[in-house]
Amino acid sequence: MERKEHWENVFSTKTEKEVSWYQDYPKTSVDYITALHLPLEAKIIDIGGGDSYLMDALLDLGYTNLTLLDISAKAIERIKARLGEKAGKVTFIVSDILDFNPTEQYDFWHDRACFHFLTDAVQIQQYVAIVTNALHHKGNVLIGTFSDKGPKKCSGLDIKQYSQEHLRLLFEKDFELKGCFSEDHHTPFGTIQNFLFCGFKRK
Ligand SMILES: C[S@@+](CC[C@H](N)C(=O)[O-])C[C@H]1O[C@@H](n2cnc3c(N)ncnc32)[C@H](O)[C@@H]1O
Repeated sequence: MERKEHWENVFSTKTEKEVSWYQDYPKTSVDYITALHLPLEAKIIDIGGGDSYLMDALLDLGYTNLTLLDISAKAIERIKARLGEKAGKVTFIVSDILDFNPTEQYDFWHDRACFHFLTDAVQIQQYVAIVTNALHHKGNVLIGTFSDKGPKKCSGLDIKQYSQEHLRLLFEKDFELKGCFSEDHHTPFGTIQNFLFCGFKRK
């Protein structure tokens, strides 16, 4: 099944709590963003944001320049419906990340459990080039993937697990590693998935 078809199917057939990655509040991501003390008008983009609650949380905190990109139009339809009027304050982009050709530069790039679906070395390098191109000079990035102690699949698809060193090497040309931390995500099914989050700053 094609990548897009897979995700349209997921968001058309499963409720939010029927997917392993569900969080009612994305605390790790919100804490990371707030600790950066970005101005509220900072340009923030969430890659593969799906219908997660990150946009809701950032809108509540007063951020005004938010973008969500996802391959699934259905996911975006769902988050727009949930946000109601507030959806007008977010820019939504339906695109495969690998086809994303940004027309502006972002101050903060967030990716929780999207990057790890790229398993092909050429596509991984393409992603790194896209972040580099999209990020403002001195912009920040937070990437969350399954760690090498985490699952090998997500949503039935193969993923690539990462170690801190592996992520550092991938991004080292243009990014300084600020730090990494591991997180046990408790899924709605009562299982645990070990994530690795690494934060980078554009050199
Ligand atoms: C595991 S979910 C994580 C969703 C969200 N980031 C969260 O933490 O709740 C992966 C998301 O990435 C999106 N996605 C997968 N591959 C993608 C790609 N190549 N380009 C853009 N979005 C993609 C899916 O549609 C889905 O919303």
